[in-house]
Amino acid sequence: MPTDPPRICDYEGSPYRRAFWEDTDRRYEDAAERLALRSLLPPDGRRLVEIGAGFGRLIDEYRGYGEIILVDYARSMLADARQRIGDGATYVCADLYRLPFATGALDAAVQIRVLHHVEAVPEAIREVARVLAPGGSYILEFANKRNLKGIARWVLRRQSENPFDHRPHEFVPLNWNFHPSFVEAALADAGLHVRRRRAVSLFRAPFAKRALPAAMLARLDHVLGGPLGRCAPAPSQFVRAAQLTGRRSEALWRCPACGHEPLIAEQDGVPCPACARMWPIEDGIMMFRA
Ligand SMILES: C[S@@+](CC[C@H](N)C(=O)[O-])C[C@H]1O[C@@H](n2cnc3c(N)ncnc32)[C@H](O)[C@@H]1O
Repeated sequence: MPTDPPRICDYEGSPYRRAFWEDTDRRYEDAAERLALRSLLPPDGRRLVEIGAGFGRLIDEYRGYGEIILVDYARSMLADARQRIGDGATYVCADLYRLPFATGALDAAVQIRVLHHVEAVPEAIREVARVLAPGGSYILEFANKRNLKGIARWVLRRQSENPFDHRPHEFVPLNWNFHPSFVEAALADAGLHVRRRRAVSLFRAPFAKRALPAAMLARLDHVLGGPLGRCAPAPSQFVRAAQLTGRRSEALWRCPACGHEPLIAEQDGVPCPACARMWPIEDGIMMFRA
């Protein structure tokens, strides 16, 4: 029986940058995520991809990498990123379930604030594992349903969702919370090895954000987040997973429609000799959405 393809949370035309980050005070969350990323991501390498990069909020954290690739499904997000960042990155419009990268082509993959929009987590994680070279790192953030606040609310009967249930919980359409064991099982099934864990955004509450300056709160979050990583008490959980096997590819591109690799990029696009598709480059964005 054919199964339906996973639903996609399409951010095309969304005011995400302004509405979520600029019109609301999220300096604490931004600073806490940057500290976590800095401590988990190897500081340098050849090729890094951020999957679901949005407007490129975290680009400053990737300075040690030779090539930075920002992937997003929404072209408007990448256009915004390109306007802010310019030639400092390669912009790729693609679906995370069909990444247009050759097997073993990348040294690092980062995915922050994206998994909560992913319906088919095992498939998405397998695709990241495929594109990572041996020795490559995957820095993954996910929304953790088994956080302290969720547990307290469930015990007090203020929420019906059981935070200890391993199944993903779609709390509003196309937004899921995950049990840490579910995500770690998907990583293990994809052949990735979790090396480190961090609890992040322990103080995501208005009173805490009012009480202390964002930078200080983020620092405190960082000091506690490492030791607390294993028990995952925060609403956001970061992990670093390692790819240990496979073969490194010097070539970068693969056809997301037929899977042929390697593809060679030309001036105006990337042709696939196997299925005769031409993946165009439009306004500096490589268009790989099948
Ligand atoms: C909440 S935003 C996070 C953006 C960025 N990672 C950050 O932390 O600022 C989620 C992003 O994931 C992208 N996204 C969602 N589903 C996707 C998919 N199937 N393939 C690629 N990108 C996707 C959205 O377009 C959006 O830009």
